Amino acid sequence: MSQGAYLDHNATTPPDPRVVAAMARWTGERFGNPSSSHAWGRRARGAVEEARERVAQLLGADTPDVVFTASGSEANNAAIFAVCGPGTPPGEILISAFEHPSVTKAAYRCERWGMRVREVPPRSDGVVPADDLRDALSERTRLVCLMLASNVVGTVQPVTEVAAAARERGVPSLCDAVQAVGKIPVRVAELGCDFVTLGGHKLHGPLGAAALWIRPGVPFAGWLVGGEQEGGRRAGTVDVPAVVGLGEATRWAAAELEQRGAALAALRDSLEAGLDRLPGVTIHARQSPRLPHTTCAAFAGVSGPELGHRLDARGFAVSTGPACGAGAPRPAAALLAMGVSPEVALSSLRISFGMTNTRQEVTRFLGVLAEEIASLRGAGATPAGTLPGR
Ligand SMILES: Cc1ncc(COP(=O)(O)O)c(C=O)c1O
Repeated sequence: MSQGAYLDHNATTPPDPRVVAAMARWTGERFGNPSSSHAWGRRARGAVEEARERVAQLLGADTPDVVFTASGSEANNAAIFAVCGPGTPPGEILISAFEHPSVTKAAYRCERWGMRVREVPPRSDGVVPADDLRDALSERTRLVCLMLASNVVGTVQPVTEVAAAARERGVPSLCDAVQAVGKIPVRVAELGCDFVTLGGHKLHGPLGAAALWIRPGVPFAGWLVGGEQEGGRRAGTVDVPAVVGLGEATRWAAAELEQRGAALAALRDSLEAGLDRLPGVTIHARQSPRLPHTTCAAFAGVSGPELGHRLDARGFAVSTGPACGAGAPRPAAALLAMGVSPEVALSSLRISFGMTNTRQEVTRFLGVLAEEIASLRGAGATPAGTLPGR
């Protein structure tokens, strides 16, 4: 694999060695249940609270308002079920038609309990218009969900405007910031939402630790019950090594945010300059505000899954769809929501960078990509399609 490269950081990122070192301290000799009152418990609790402080600092939040969860999906589910789950007054959940499945499916699950889901589509530029969401608010709206940045095309959404409009009507809002945190500044005060979620493994932290920020004073009942961990908001003994890793990852993300953004954007720009030299390539949502590290592009006349498979065989990891959707190739729902045809969506790949990628990898990737596209087009083993102009 030495000649290949991992270019699928929106699926997951390799943990930073500093994160691994911090976690290692809690996977051997040091251990303890943070709820225990003895010295072992107190030490573990101290490590968890230090991590909580670091997460809060990255978000510009107060420490007690951060709840640890095991995944971004869990954090999104927890917010949605708290507001719209069993026992809550019926009404409508307003979501963008662009959300991660951990938001979309949780919202539709609430239909069992008397809610209705209303989806507002993005424009073809990958942005959900704030006005459309604002206009869709009604006296029946119980929750608004708008992600900060798309995991598929990387577009940044007008969360601040939407949260403000919801707030004016007394409607709480959830911002899934899982892909944005650690890539662009995310401050809860600027967003103005009531719930914000992030996940460790998207920012060079570990799998198994994520967080939900809850605006102080917002009523919240967790759906995992048992012990009184996390201030009674999420039962279950905290995974100390993972949470310590999340804390360390957020610490470095905060300290290095600007330089990371610049480094990632430079990689992305050199990739896109190279893609411009290939025939029949369309970069989705290119003119929109985007995360610095994500490119989603369609390759005319080529099957995305087949291309992804060939790149994989040559050591390059890219995504042919959200990593959470295993099984038969399906066009990415986010692209369809943007009005991209199923054929073009299926000819698309997502390339996402992380802090270990290099310019040399981009150059090698572009060379291999050009060869494989030419080979697939030459073989005619791909869906019929003409090469569109840009
Ligand atoms: C935007 C977004 N939200 C939520 C999630 C879910 O996070 P996790 O994998 O930690 O459950 C993902 C994961 O890909 C994501 O991209």
